[in-house]
Amino acid sequence: MTITRRQVLLIGGIGAAGAAGALWLPRETLNAKSISRLPYSEMPRPFRTPLVQAPILRPTRVEIDPLDGAPVNYYSVSEIAASASILPRLKTPILGYNGIFPGPTLSVDQGTKVVLRVRNKLPATHPLDGHALSTSTHLHGSASLPQYDGYASDITPPGFYKDYHYPNFQPARTLWYHDHGVHNTAQNAYSGLAGQYHLHDPLERALLPQGPFDVPLTITDAMFAVDGSLGYDDNDHSGLWGDVILVNGKPWPVMKVQKRVYRFRILNASISRSLRPTLSTGDPLVIVGTDGGLMPRSRSVANYRHAGAERYEILIDFRKYQTGQRIELRNLSNKNNVDYDFTSKIMAFDVVGDPVDTMDPTWNTIPTTLVGSEVMSLTAAQSTKTRHFRVKRNDLTNLWTIDDGSWQAVVESGFTKVAANPALDATEIWEFENSSGGWFHPIHIHLVDFQILGRNGRAPFPAEMGPKDVVYVGEGETVRLLMKFGPHRGKYMIHCHNLPHEDHDMMVQFSVGLAATDVDPNDPISAAPPVWDTQV
Ligand code: C2O
Repeated sequence: MTITRRQVLLIGGIGAAGAAGALWLPRETLNAKSISRLPYSEMPRPFRTPLVQAPILRPTRVEIDPLDGAPVNYYSVSEIAASASILPRLKTPILGYNGIFPGPTLSVDQGTKVVLRVRNKLPATHPLDGHALSTSTHLHGSASLPQYDGYASDITPPGFYKDYHYPNFQPARTLWYHDHGVHNTAQNAYSGLAGQYHLHDPLERALLPQGPFDVPLTITDAMFAVDGSLGYDDNDHSGLWGDVILVNGKPWPVMKVQKRVYRFRILNASISRSLRPTLSTGDPLVIVGTDGGLMPRSRSVANYRHAGAERYEILIDFRKYQTGQRIELRNLSNKNNVDYDFTSKIMAFDVVGDPVDTMDPTWNTIPTTLVGSEVMSLTAAQSTKTRHFRVKRNDLTNLWTIDDGSWQAVVESGFTKVAANPALDATEIWEFENSSGGWFHPIHIHLVDFQILGRNGRAPFPAEMGPKDVVYVGEGETVRLLMKFGPHRGKYMIHCHNLPHEDHDMMVQFSVGLAATDVDPNDPISAAPPVWDTQV
């Protein structure tokens, strides 16, 4: 990337920040024309490019775990600085797993363990702002041991690799892997270090479309500098709102669809922007899965709120449309975003008349009853403790905080400071309160799935009545979450998934089943250190 820091700031200066007249954005939703500095002829437009899919990653070998007889798939990805075709003509430098964005998709069955080798082949420093390109890979949605969980300060420098072990005992779900490097997660994920990971099980396979009708959609937003490189302006760490919407790395793509039911695994991988997806026809989206997998029953919605890092699995029924008809997936947006001319569109579906395989029972099925889960069966009466966390900006330090805590304070404590210390297998209620106004915070708790009990004393939204690991805490909202802590002991992070907030410095940690004096056999930094990569 040839863009300098000064040019990056210039991008912000003429765009949204100029429109708002202040650096701190947003208080309300703002509308502006554009923020990219591309000439008109180079600016992408909606619905000019086909939807593409990241390749499925193949294991390098498969073994049997001698201890329990479980299959173990070994995979390898390399973090590489590469170039992507996003714009009509100009190339865009990115950082990608295997040099692509989104990274390759992993697809495994429940009960198959995974060892993922992540090889850091990045340059020493980020070409845009010069930060050191040490990385930490988090499989978001997996109950991994702490030393394999992408703990922010457990970093792998360029020239090293780390083997991440994933247990895959959880129910089927859509997970994603992304960089979590301490204080640089936003820039690294925005540069392209993100990909999907699918965990299958027999229940989900029987109920929902599979193969070509099970479609990952990774949605991000981006802004571009005049040379086609990514612009980066996080408005003094408040958030980055790009004017180009990408789905699987392409601007506002079009997908051809048969007249049948499709399943979409929608991941909002934007570092700040939240979405409110809806169909141009006014027809419903049928939500069947949330972050932690299938919901107890499906929910039909006209639109729903979708923050960064949340995953929603959705059925769309294309049976009744005409051949040649175009259906748009649009974005109604939410309060406290910055919107541009075309951020109200996400992608489009073009209906084709190809014959449909009616032997596949999912072709015309919209199931209403899905599957229960341990977390959705918990009741508030089982909780032994209620904890309350306030998420806010500290105006004195200019830092985002959780109960005045920050990752810097965790680092300064030698990683001993914890915001909560539930016992192993304890069930607790955690409340998150966002009363400072002007912002929404998608709060992510590592290790656990939780049930949303309510928001501001009312029921959760229909779309979020399933197992979750990220909760949208909107302006003026207090949410109540119910969860059981396990199956691992150890230290895990809690943070805002607006990644500039996380990096500055809205991240703390909790410990499960550990007394302050315990020696932690799964210490997230020392238990599985990175290894010098002799192949680089
Ligand atoms: Cu998706 Cu701690 O992150």
